Amino acid sequence: MSQVTEYSAKVMDHFMHPRNVGEIADADGVGTVGNAVCGDIMRMYLDIDENGIIQDAKFKTFGCGAAVATSSMATELVRGKTIQEALLVTNKAVAEALDGLPPVKIHCSLLAEQAIHAALWDYAEKHNIRIEGLKPPVNDINETEEFYEMEEQ
Ligand code: FES
Repeated sequence: MSQVTEYSAKVMDHFMHPRNVGEIADADGVGTVGNAVCGDIMRMYLDIDENGIIQDAKFKTFGCGAAVATSSMATELVRGKTIQEALLVTNKAVAEALDGLPPVKIHCSLLAEQAIHAALWDYAEKHNIRIEGLKPPVNDINETEEFYEMEEQ
């Protein structure tokens, strides 16, 4: 992915017209994560059917433009997916689907990835199951290993 210094047309579109904003009443999984450094917070709601397919995803984000755009794209990417497929919706996948993010905004996409993981964790706890490859959620993305890897790049 080439280095981007400004927002792509797709980022602007998802920021100006975010998809799937809102809440899901009685969601199967709800996850909230924040970034204590910038103060942004994202909450993700997932509706997952008995076959483990994500039927619906909605979000509420109190944050920067990139955080809104990445949440919007993340909900689009996980809809219709299985839980294991949703785990492949990494921050990199979200950023790529948006045609890239400026380097200083890459961490915002980590909020989207971690919000999905937190919602899946909540789903697993409610259903008393274990999701292969899913790590316990963090409240603050600055606590994740991925965040430190990003900082070192
Ligand atoms: Fe905080 Fe973008 S600056 S998530």
